[in-house]
Amino acid sequence: MKKIIFLFLVLISFKVSAQEINIIPQPAYIDKKQTQKPFIIDSKTQIVVADSTLIPSADFLNDYLQKYYKLKLTITKVTPGRNFIKLISNTRISEFNDAYNLITTDQNTTIIGTSKFGVFYAVQSFIQLLPTVANQLITVPSVVIVDHPRFDYRGMHLDVSRHFFDVAFVKQYIDYLALHKMNYFHWHLTDDHGWRIEIKKYPKLTEIGAWRNGSIIGLWPGKGNKNIRYQVMPNEIKITPNDAVIKTDGIRHGGFYTQEQIKEVLDYAAKRYITIIPEIEMPAHSMALLAAYPELGTEPNKKYTVAETWGMMNKYNNVLQASDTTFKFLENVLTEVMDLFPSPYIHIGGDEAAKVWWKQSAVSQQMMKANGLKTESELQSYFIRRMEKFVNSKGKTIIGWNEILQGGLAPNAVVMSWQGEKGGIEAARQNHKAIMTPENTMYFNHRQFVKEDSLAANKFSPLIDVYNYEPIPTELNAEQAKYIWGAQGCLWTEYITTPAKVQYQLFPRLDALSEILWSPKDKRNYPDFQKRLKTQFKRYDLMGITYSKRYLEN
Ligand code: ACM
Repeated sequence: MKKIIFLFLVLISFKVSAQEINIIPQPAYIDKKQTQKPFIIDSKTQIVVADSTLIPSADFLNDYLQKYYKLKLTITKVTPGRNFIKLISNTRISEFNDAYNLITTDQNTTIIGTSKFGVFYAVQSFIQLLPTVANQLITVPSVVIVDHPRFDYRGMHLDVSRHFFDVAFVKQYIDYLALHKMNYFHWHLTDDHGWRIEIKKYPKLTEIGAWRNGSIIGLWPGKGNKNIRYQVMPNEIKITPNDAVIKTDGIRHGGFYTQEQIKEVLDYAAKRYITIIPEIEMPAHSMALLAAYPELGTEPNKKYTVAETWGMMNKYNNVLQASDTTFKFLENVLTEVMDLFPSPYIHIGGDEAAKVWWKQSAVSQQMMKANGLKTESELQSYFIRRMEKFVNSKGKTIIGWNEILQGGLAPNAVVMSWQGEKGGIEAARQNHKAIMTPENTMYFNHRQFVKEDSLAANKFSPLIDVYNYEPIPTELNAEQAKYIWGAQGCLWTEYITTPAKVQYQLFPRLDALSEILWSPKDKRNYPDFQKRLKTQFKRYDLMGITYSKRYLEN
């Protein structure tokens, strides 16, 4: 019998020395104890956690084991002799924020984080040490990992306006971010094509603004659409009678989240240590709001509709009137938003505002005159500063797209740089925090292959470009570089209509992004990343996640 057990252990250790360690994002330091026997998780393994602030990490691990390996472990405060996974917090183990050490031996696993966040990140690495196939012995290779994040802001965005995604899927999306040690979810809740958050004081925002009567067919300007019906055009753009015709799919699309549902998502994200930053767009990208409350537009007597077409014409869509009535309305909306979201940051958009609307509006011109503003760009700056003052008065900070630099940056604003890196560089030079999301690499709605099987935005952001992106521009000196808070991937959903398509566009570019943001710069290695990706794909198979399988071809 002894001989058989011995043989069994030898076999396991042989198997395990072949069990590679393929973690994404790549940890700062890994010591593979190849010669040592593995840790085996069975029904008697206990999760030890004495510190109540670490319970969400213990629960997360247990839920994962149950979901994918049908194993529910006992969680205890008392450390048994062996066969345990212990979670501890100790600030002294590292000089870095949110760092962790993960040590597995054949007896047990010990996770020590400098914070509850570090412990959670260690759990994500631990999960990636588990087999990628269910129903087999759960062996974990013996290893020592010492790890910490490179950037404090590791963000991913989802547009739920162009297409609506329900609470169940938003939760899954949050799990994807958690697995990659991302810590901010930018939830793009409002735009021309749908208002997605219940605001109790203004029910028409969702009664009217959450629904559109059709979407263009195919890539802009749309199959069969010789002509696009522009929503409301500026006087200076001439429209022929034919242009009044539109052919959409005629399918009503929409949906919104109640405040109760938003609380549910916030609670889910908090247990995964992800901060949700809500975005409420202003002064542009507001057609859904204007369809509900036309009196806030620059053309209150024209009929606004929730936008049905996207693409190039977005930039002509109407903007909010610069009036005291609008500011009061937005303050009331933001009050409800800030009461709901614990995030210290609120995104207020600020992108792509066509100044022509303010130029031809007597009310906006009057606002400019009254405040000594010479140009419409200065009015944009005034608009954002005024909203910033309100948001700051509630103890929160605004984030805006790089256009908020126009006419002068609001004093405390964080800049999200999407039109290249210029905006981020300018913000950092002005000692403002910046988040890099240059569209050429960081917009994951773009194609990832030259030819895609299905519709995607007509730009190209392949995996290798994402992987090679460096968030700190060479133009900045060391002092200025400290203002580059991190980077973000964006997923705009004009051409993304289903959860599976979201997954396809996201994976594996999210893997590349996470490595840029988490791993030490000198650990980045594309061939090695591609090798680790193969194991990650097997994990995605286990988890039922769609990813671009064409990466398996090479
Ligand atoms: C943007 O893509 N308009 C931020």
